Amino acid sequence: MKNFAKIIFALVVTTMIVSCGDNRTPSVQYMPDMYEAVPYEPNGAVGVNGEASNLKPVEGTIARGQVPYEYPNTIDGYNQALNELKSPLEKNDDNLENGKKMYTIYCAVCHGTKGDGNGVLSQREKFNGVPNFKDRAITEGSIYHVIMHGRNLMGSHASQLRVEERWQVVQYVEKLRNDLLK
Ligand code: HEC
Repeated sequence: MKNFAKIIFALVVTTMIVSCGDNRTPSVQYMPDMYEAVPYEPNGAVGVNGEASNLKPVEGTIARGQVPYEYPNTIDGYNQALNELKSPLEKNDDNLENGKKMYTIYCAVCHGTKGDGNGVLSQREKFNGVPNFKDRAITEGSIYHVIMHGRNLMGSHASQLRVEERWQVVQYVEKLRNDLLK
């Protein structure tokens, strides 16, 4: 009998919790992020008067933290970068080390740890046409350009790497290429 009373009590309490409040304003939200998304809605940036808007940056301005890249994604842009774009970084072991880290994360799947084009994706034939760095007449400028804009089947990696990291990767790619040419 005692147990029966307990069961009835538990049932009453559960029913109260479940049925309290109406659907529009639930009294208890179990895991609220399932109801209210944490990320912003795409295209939902808050504009003037708090309305959703698709505002583009004002022409001629640069968003904080962004460094403009002036060589366009064209053959001319590639050739210009190839010939004249130079790394602003000092060539030292710290930069090389971090370049290796980033290369291993973002590039080695296709290009291989040695840069011979023999990465896991190439081996499994998921990605074809990955060159051996020693077969390309590339410069620090062109490597940076390709990281920014991609090239044919290779996509841009600009969003994965910060400016400094890109130049560190460039230094590491040059080292791999020199080792392959030996
Ligand atoms: C998904 C596979 C893939 C990944 C990841 C990848 N690449 Fe490539 N990469 C390619 C392919 C394919 C080509 C050949 C493009 C062409 O010339 O047609 C290429 C070409 C290149 C070239 C030679 C371009 C030239 O000017 O001839 C460089 C340099 C290069 N990649 C650097 C990188 C670096 C640095 C990363 C990492 C930040 C990277 N790649 C990540 C597939 C990849």
